[in-house]
Amino acid sequence: MTAPLLERLEPQEADKILRLMAQFANDPRPNKVDLGVGVYRTPEGTTPVMQAVTEAEARLLARQTTKGYVALEGDPAFHAALAELVLGQHRPQDRIAALATPGGTGAVRHGFELARRANPDVTVWMPDPTWPNHPAITAAMAVPARTYRYYDASTGGLDREGMLADLSAVPPGDIVLLHGCCHNPTGADLSAQDWAEIAALCSKTGAVPMIDLAYLGFGEGPQADVAGIRILMDAVPEMLVAVSGSKSFGLYRERVGLLLALCPSAGLRDVVAANMSWLNRLAYAFPPDHGARIVTEVLTDPALRQIWADELDTMRLRIDAIRQELAVALHQQTGTHRFDFLASQKGMFSLIGATPEQVTRLRDAHALYVVGDGRINLAGLTQSHIPQVAKVLAAELV
Ligand code: LMR
Repeated sequence: MTAPLLERLEPQEADKILRLMAQFANDPRPNKVDLGVGVYRTPEGTTPVMQAVTEAEARLLARQTTKGYVALEGDPAFHAALAELVLGQHRPQDRIAALATPGGTGAVRHGFELARRANPDVTVWMPDPTWPNHPAITAAMAVPARTYRYYDASTGGLDREGMLADLSAVPPGDIVLLHGCCHNPTGADLSAQDWAEIAALCSKTGAVPMIDLAYLGFGEGPQADVAGIRILMDAVPEMLVAVSGSKSFGLYRERVGLLLALCPSAGLRDVVAANMSWLNRLAYAFPPDHGARIVTEVLTDPALRQIWADELDTMRLRIDAIRQELAVALHQQTGTHRFDFLASQKGMFSLIGATPEQVTRLRDAHALYVVGDGRINLAGLTQSHIPQVAKVLAAELV
């Protein structure tokens, strides 16, 4: 007699970022500081509902008369609104297929699946390092993944030469995964020149860029943060973009995501779109709608869009101010320029160059929660924490 089915399951470690979230929640120490999971926090330490979102949601509730199904691919008005935000008014609409998904993660997974439908031998090339869920997803899907050089820990910047050398060897029909802005976990972003060189390389090799855009607006603002994607759009025949509404609209739990596919020709668009619809159908039938409708309302009403843009600016500027202040405090505490790179990087994340043992000590001895690879979420830091955090980091790392 064989073992019962469920007894055959292996124990599973939780995702390291989510495990940290739970540990933090259970830590009774009053001085604890959470620099783990990537959520935005106000100076008071909360993750609020954006005002534009509250207003849009109120309007939706007053207006909505049905919760009937929409369409497998989601609401076309949502596709149009978010595609315009990311790809601009002058995007080649007849070559773009779109699919609403549960969050940016849903879009990433379906992007990989779409690539595998087209090329069963596809390999996904990821920056080293990348968001830990990227390789976790490809592993779960049994899609081969490889890394390309990306980060230079000695400068806190890009390993440009290494990256371009590795990308020039990617075979046609493979996926090159790029972070649209605010690289997670390094905070080291691509310049316009880098995007142009990657576009030229992909056009030459036939590799297909896929951009994970989870932090639009947190780098240099909503326009600047999509500039690289638009450079690619104008230069390569085909690409995929996974857009998340979690951070940029503060809609984390509503699961707002969109997968965009730029097709090589207008004639292919319907075939690509039909394949994408099946990805939803086979996974959960219809995508979530509520958050997508909020985003549509925010982006298509000029007054709401302005309120949202201002709120997003406030968040971005707060993170940038924290970066500057922490870099100065660390300079003062350590007497070195080791952490100066924090001031020039973008978005929520940076790597502080801590070993796993140091990360454990930061948590156990100082109640300072940092992801195992030494990633800190600067948006989790409030001004009042900076002296304490700088002191602890200087004492433990230098
Ligand atoms: C993060 O990297 O912390 C966020 O993207 C949240 C997550 O799901 O991991």
